[in-house]
Order: sequence, then structure tokens, then C-alpha cells
Amino acid sequence: MCGIIGFIGGEQAAPILLGGLKKLEYRGYDSAGIAILENGQIDIAKSKGRLEILYDKIDGGRSFHGTAGIGHTRWATHGEPSDANSHPHRSRSGKFAIVHNGIIENYATLKAQLQDKGCEFASETDTEVIAHLLEQNDTGDLLETIRRTVAQLEGSYALGILSEEHPDEIACVRCASPLIVALSDGGNFIASDVTAVLPYTRHIYQLDDGEIALLRRDDVTVYNAEGRRIEKELKTITWSVAAAEKGGYEHFMLKEIMEQPQAISATISPRIGNDGRIVLDGISLTKEELKAFHRIFILACGSAYHVGVVGKYVIEEVARIPVEVDIASEFRYRMPLVDERSLVLIISQSGETADTLAALREAKSRGARVLSIVNVVGSTIASESDDVLYTWAGPEISVATTKAYSTQLTLIYLLAFYIADALGRVDTLTLRHALNELIALPDQIQKILDQAPQIEQFAQRLCYLDHAYFIGRNLDYAVALEASLKLKEISYIHSEAYAAGELKHGTISLIEPGTFVAALACCERLFDKTVSNIREVKARGAQVLCVTQQGNEAAAQQADHVFYVPRTYPLFMPSIEVVPMQLLGYYAAKARGCDIDKPRNLAKSVTVE
Ligand code: F6R
Repeated sequence: MCGIIGFIGGEQAAPILLGGLKKLEYRGYDSAGIAILENGQIDIAKSKGRLEILYDKIDGGRSFHGTAGIGHTRWATHGEPSDANSHPHRSRSGKFAIVHNGIIENYATLKAQLQDKGCEFASETDTEVIAHLLEQNDTGDLLETIRRTVAQLEGSYALGILSEEHPDEIACVRCASPLIVALSDGGNFIASDVTAVLPYTRHIYQLDDGEIALLRRDDVTVYNAEGRRIEKELKTITWSVAAAEKGGYEHFMLKEIMEQPQAISATISPRIGNDGRIVLDGISLTKEELKAFHRIFILACGSAYHVGVVGKYVIEEVARIPVEVDIASEFRYRMPLVDERSLVLIISQSGETADTLAALREAKSRGARVLSIVNVVGSTIASESDDVLYTWAGPEISVATTKAYSTQLTLIYLLAFYIADALGRVDTLTLRHALNELIALPDQIQKILDQAPQIEQFAQRLCYLDHAYFIGRNLDYAVALEASLKLKEISYIHSEAYAAGELKHGTISLIEPGTFVAALACCERLFDKTVSNIREVKARGAQVLCVTQQGNEAAAQQADHVFYVPRTYPLFMPSIEVVPMQLLGYYAAKARGCDIDKPRNLAKSVTVE
């Protein structure tokens, strides 16, 4: 996710900002920039690519004079990585410069209004609208100008702001994006997280939503959203630099698991219009084109393929179009029956996976229309697709995917209902009910995350296992595939996933006294069937954990342990039940002392065949 740093103090700001950006590199970025305010004039330097390019461009900051400034590492969302799209962005006359982390959901409307008033845009970003709005709302009072501006914004933002008319101040404000203010004897800072300021200070204010801070060289004033001055508690950070990068969590994987509610919200909320219908920003498919597709092919690798397995069940049930889901490395060599009547859906977090990219090219060469679900803006898969839907998960650092998987799932649900709505295959009441449940998903997931300590306790018993089996039917089977992969890839416990009804056709011979079986039983209409399969393995001595919805008390009579999860719209249950499985894998691996964020033999982006 983008990184923000700002400084005002007694020393030259540029080298301090570059140093801060270096510390924020771990967050993931594709471009960087700084703005310095000196003698009432703002100077900006920015460039696509590694921080070193910016560093060389401005001679390590030595060619940029001034003791106040803001800096940014950008992780592209709106508009590809480029010099023009890099932050900071300027207002029309250039008197305001800003850096931004977050997503402005109503930026298209605001941009159109500003363009009507003659504003010209230098970038494709959502951020630039904020710079122009600041100038449009300028009252001469910086606090009031910011208040008027943020009142027009919908979405998430952490903003660092410079104004040529306020040369002794830097300002910041946040809403649903992280931002801290840090205080030191030599000056004051703003930052996305404490890693950027730890070389200077450990004293911080944690800004809450709506709060605005005005920083001067030797003092900081914080205001609430109504513009009233407030006293904040000054906190002292005791974390090491490594712990700070992980937001205090022991591993990136756990941090990313915990970030899922926000990532899912960010993925869903811009896509539900005021009229309660789905708006898919990256799609130019018309109703006629959608109607003409005979089949949808979902192509992906690993966990992204597991999302595809969920996708088959969901899209077929909601949109009533036949779906084939294929492992990309298999599809590319199997002479697939794909043509111009096929919609090919590619799923990839990195957007660079070699097999998935090859499958995309194979499908295109056969005339298929390609729609991709990707997390990295400007990646090769995104640029070679006809249409792209971005998951707003932010950079995923842990090799084992969690929040990217979850945001991919939410886009699958949205896509299924979008197609069904376009083709008149879902009634308004069902659509409305489903979307309400979708919007509530992050809160439901949070309830599971709050139970992490109990899951950790249970997982500690699993750490001595040699084998584990995950079973389920229908969507539960799709989640079993992912649950099994999560456990084995990071804990190195051998694990397999089976369609529960398939077990007795061979694999059940492996079940012996003490074998661990996790039975996923959230698919209500098949609950009794899965219970029969639980009985089968119990009869052979298996230790069974059953994951099912609250209220399914019958599960407790069959399994040795039950983990109850909240209910949601039945087709969205994978998003809920996968979370305890991610935590189970994580805590089992932790108890075994594994290198969780970098499991052996694995790479985050698999760019070789
Ligand atoms: C497992 C995992 C991998 C990826 C797979 C595809 O936790 O992360 O299985 O899902 O390598 O990667 P992307 O999504 O980048 O194409």
C-alpha cells in the first residue's frame, strides 16, 4: 500500500524524506516522489520505478533545499505506474501539493465536475481531484480549506498537504487509511507507519478517522472533524523496526489475514452504486456481448485457481452460464475448445504468473474475450487483458496468499451477480439481499478474527501431525482445497483435500486411529451428507474438526471439535469459513517454528514455467 512521509523542522527535509521512503519500501511500491516547500514555493521531483531512480535524480536530496516537505511511495491503483501518476500531485495553480494513500470512490464524479469548471488533469489518478478541490475550496484558512475538501470525498484517504500560502506548516488528515504524527526535538513528522520515523523518535499521535493535524517546526495541533482543537494521547512506541514493519504482528501473513475486512470493504464499496446495483469499473462488456458467451473459462494457478473453483459453483448457480475452471499450466497445453464465444476469466494476484499469462495468450489467440481479476495495477496480465477488475487488497508480502484470495472471492461474487443482473437472471429482491450480505461480510469476518486466540490454542495440537485431510461438498470442497494448501505450504504438514463424497472411493483407506480430518460443513443443504462422511471417518478412528455455521448444533454430536462461524448469504460462505482455516495453517506453522512469510522452495511471483 502507498507510503507517506512528511517532515517540518530544523534540518533539510529532502534527505529525511528519502530516508523515510526507504523505510516504507517494504509496503510495496512502483514509483516515488517528494515535494519541498521553501520560501513559499513548492518544488516536486518524482519518478516511476525504484527509489534509487528518484534518489539519483535529486542527488540524494542535496539539490532540493527546504526544511518542510512530503514524500510518497505509490502502489498504483488508478492509472498505471508512470512519472505522471506518481505523487505528489499539484492543484491547478500549483499552490497546493498532496500525497495520498487510499481510494477516492467518487473521484469520477468529482473529476467531471472539476473538468466542467475548466480544470485540466495531469494524471489518471483519483488523488489529483483532491489537489484541485483544495484550491477550489481555499478560504485562506488551511484547516477550514481541508475540512471543506474532505467533506466532498467518499472513500479512504490519508493525506499529506503542502500549501505555498502556509510556508511554516504541513497538514494531514485521515479517514480509513493509516496515518501517524510523530514528534521530535528536531521537528515533526507525518507517516503511514512508525517505521519511517523510528530513527528520529518513538513519540507519536495515532490519528483517528476525520482528524486533521497542522504541524509546525516546534508544535503540532490536532483538530477533530468539526474543526475543534483536541488533545491526543502521546504514545511511545516500543517495537523494534522489524516489528513495526509488520504493524506489531509477528508475521506479514498474520497482518494480512487481519487486514482482510478492510481489503474486502475496499474491493466491494466502490462497486455498489447509489441505486443498489453493481458497477464494475473495469468492464466494457455490453449486455449483448454477455448474452453471446456460450461458456466461461476460469484459468489460474494455486490459490487463485481455488478461487476459480468457488467461481464455477457461484457463477453457474447465479448467472446460469456453464463454467469450466482449469489450472493454467494444464489449459495451455490441452488444445482447449475456446473461441470467440468464450469469456476467459483470468485470476492472478501478481498479474505476472508465467503459466497464467501463457494461458491468457493461448485463449486470446483462439479469439476469446479476456477479463482478468488482478491485484497489481499495470502488471503484464492486466495490460494484456481486454478488461480488468482490480482487487484492492494492497501489496501482499507474505508468500502464502490470504487477503488477495479473499478479495478475489468478493470480485467473483460481484461478477456473478453483475452478469445475472445484466441477463435478467436475478430478481431485484434477491440482488439487494445478496449485496447487503456482501457489504456485511467484513464485519462477519472480523468476528472470526477476534477468535484468533482460541484457534491458536487448537492449532498447537496439530503441530505434531504428519498428515491432515480436509473434506467438504460443493463450496465447502472449494474451500477445503485452499485450507489444505494453506496448512501444507507453510507448516510442511502433508495434507490433502477431498470432495467428501469421494473419500470412500480410495482415500478412506488412509484413515486410521488419530488421523486428523477437518470437515467443512457450511453448505447447509448438504450438511447431512457431510455429517455422513464425518461418521465414516470417525468410525475408522479419525479425530474430526467440523467447521459449520452457528446454530448447527448437530455437528457437535458428530465431531470431536466444532468451530462455529457466522452465517451469511449461502454462496458467500467461502469468505467466512476460509478465515479460521488460514489461521489454523498459520498457527500450526508458528508452533512448528516454520519460516512462515517465506516458506521453503516457494516464491511470491512465479514468473517461470
Ligand atoms: C498460495 C499462493 C499461490 C498463488 C499462485 C498464483 O498461498 O499464493 O498458490 O496463488 O502462485 O499466483 P498469482 O495469484 O500471483 O497468479
